[in-house]
Amino acid sequence: MKVAILGTGAVAIDLAKGFVSRGHSVVFGTRNAQGETAVKAVAAVAGSSAAPYAQAASQAEMAVLATSWSGTQNAVQLTTNTALKGKLLIDVTNPLDFSTGKPQMALGFPNSAGASIQAWLPDAKVVKAFNIITSTRMIDPQFSDGQPDMFIAGNDAAAKQQTADLLKAFGWRSAIDMGDISKSYLLEALAMVWIEYGVSRNHWNHGISLLGAQA
Ligand SMILES: NC(=O)c1ccc[n+]([C@@H]2O[C@H](COP(=O)([O-])OP(=O)(O)OC[C@H]3O[C@@H](n4cnc5c(N)ncnc54)[C@H](OP(=O)(O)O)[C@@H]3O)[C@@H](O)[C@H]2O)c1
Repeated sequence: MKVAILGTGAVAIDLAKGFVSRGHSVVFGTRNAQGETAVKAVAAVAGSSAAPYAQAASQAEMAVLATSWSGTQNAVQLTTNTALKGKLLIDVTNPLDFSTGKPQMALGFPNSAGASIQAWLPDAKVVKAFNIITSTRMIDPQFSDGQPDMFIAGNDAAAKQQTADLLKAFGWRSAIDMGDISKSYLLEALAMVWIEYGVSRNHWNHGISLLGAQA
């Protein structure tokens, strides 16, 4: 597949490496394909390229949204609903507000980043995933004391199955389906559990697993 990774930060680069390692090709979507972060991202990921958001999404079969929350609505507007029509869009964002110096949720129940993004892109098949783990553990997330699980949410069953298949290919034990995209608020609150644990201990190398899950 050709995959558009929307954004050029740490998440974009680490997920792009994962897609390329599994035989896919990557184009980064960005505001400036000649800018410093885009050039750095392309240099970090073998065979990748960068293009303006809409151009990247148009040429890809699926996309990943890996933008800072403050820039997400603008990135989505630049990408356009048309360029993502009928395509899986994996939403990795967490709606974080850093204005106090400490990460806080910028919005919460009943709203969520995932539901907002689906509303802004009505023809894309948005699936929330990968938002409860650090970018360096998004691919092959084994820990010495076990394997974490990923939780997903989205409206389209086929898009969620495609996401679950990708998670399996990326080495995840399971993709736990929490329901439609409105359930993104649960996954984003769970990310705050992950973040608060990290902030309070200055420890960022942890994952979440569900014990006793249904077989
Ligand atoms: N870091 C992690 O380990 C981690 C883990 C789980 C989830 N997340 C979430 O994943 C997302 C990406 O995280 P990150 O650390 O990689 O993000 P980041 O470096 O802060 O930003 C990613 C990209 O957002 C784009 N962006 C910023 N402002 C924009 C604007 N006004 N308009 C359009 N695009 C804009 C930029 O792309 P261009 O400048 O190229 O346009 C930038 O490269 C965030 O929502 C974060 O909360 C992060």
